[in-house]
Amino acid sequence: MKPKIRQILDMNAFSQDSAQTMNSGSLLSRRLKNFGAASVLFYRTPIEMIGGHGARLVASDGTEYLDFYNNVPSVGHTHPRVVEAISKQAAKLNINTRYLSRVVDDYLDALKKTFPDDLDNILLCCTGSEANDLALRIAMQRSGNRGFIVTETAYHGNTLAVTHISPAALKKDPLPDHVIAVPAPFSTIYGEDLGKGFAEAIKGAVDELENRGYGCAGLICDSIFSSDGVLSDPPGFLSEAVAVIKNAGGLFIADEVQPGFARTGTHMWGFQRHNVLPDLVTMGKPMGNGFPMAGVAAKSSDVKRFCEHVGYFNTFGGNPLAAAAGQAVLDIIKEDGLMENALLVGSHVMAGLNAIREKYLQISDIRGTGLFIGVDLCTDGDPDRPDPTLATDLINTLKHRHILIGAAGKYGNTLKLRPPLCLSIKEADIFLDNLAQGLDTLI
Ligand SMILES: Cc1ncc(COP(=O)(O)O)c(C=O)c1O
Repeated sequence: MKPKIRQILDMNAFSQDSAQTMNSGSLLSRRLKNFGAASVLFYRTPIEMIGGHGARLVASDGTEYLDFYNNVPSVGHTHPRVVEAISKQAAKLNINTRYLSRVVDDYLDALKKTFPDDLDNILLCCTGSEANDLALRIAMQRSGNRGFIVTETAYHGNTLAVTHISPAALKKDPLPDHVIAVPAPFSTIYGEDLGKGFAEAIKGAVDELENRGYGCAGLICDSIFSSDGVLSDPPGFLSEAVAVIKNAGGLFIADEVQPGFARTGTHMWGFQRHNVLPDLVTMGKPMGNGFPMAGVAAKSSDVKRFCEHVGYFNTFGGNPLAAAAGQAVLDIIKEDGLMENALLVGSHVMAGLNAIREKYLQISDIRGTGLFIGVDLCTDGDPDRPDPTLATDLINTLKHRHILIGAAGKYGNTLKLRPPLCLSIKEADIFLDNLAQGLDTLI
């Protein structure tokens, strides 16, 4: 029997039920009183973080953790050059986006160079959710349709519209009628020819959206399918599905909020591994290394059409402070060779994981590219028996060994590894040693 399907925010989450015996003046108790039921915290015992540098985080009790999870501080926690860029700009000027600002257009010129030429406009906002919300609206405007296709355990954000295309966020409500979720692209589901099988599922969903009277506005995919369990390979498998969507008059939206900004080790953007041309690309998380910024890369013709129908203005999105942070991130990725480092250290982690796998039949699969890796855990070597309990135990065991990782996948049995891109080989080895020892204590 398969374990129950897990909602994304439940994974590795602190349970408020276990908070009864807690000291009422503690930070945890204050947090729960302030956030109420909307408080989401990691770990059976949450950690108070007070500092960070590179791939390390420092907790209030002085413990230094090796961060193998957080993909926002992608160039490294508190990177001095990002801090300096933000501080300098904050000391000079920060203002809403209805004034000309050289730092903003210098940044956008640099960012645009990383995209295909026809994505010649970039709309800046503050969160990945906002970026996806905007992308959905642009897709509906161009296609004249209202239906969207997503994968089964996708997460695309928290506005009303993007919650509706985020099956992994829905606890009780079903997906709305205008959204169809297809199984994520696992070869165990679609067979040897993954590209063909996935494209057939997309075609079926297009037809169903037509039947339901919505038509197909688009397919939105996280280009590494992070919350589905990290599905990276084989490169190129997305191209047939994208062709199906374009033939149906829908748009392909590449959600690069997680895989973007060089994490895959071979490309700046995850969609480039699949050799496809998206109509819209959304980005966020690592874009400002923690400074809240996000964006949509689009064709100017689509932006023009959209703006003829509705005005779009974002007070904070793309202000000079955000641009300064974003520029520093782009510069650091290039000058410090972080894409190359992601490939080098990521390959080392992969090799180490594969060696560990030989000893443990509980590891049923390892997937990923660069520094974006998923490791499936199962019972008794049977991939059809996912083991989310082992995943949660291992995550908490590693925490006690001062290493932070997370979980993903439909059943929460995939270990999600996404360290900052500046990770060293030495740090990778610390992780691998502890993973093996952690498994030893649990199995
Ligand atoms: C793939 C993906 N898209 C969009 C989002 C939403 O981004 P944000 O939380 O910045 O709104 C997330 C957040 O986890 C994400 O993982």
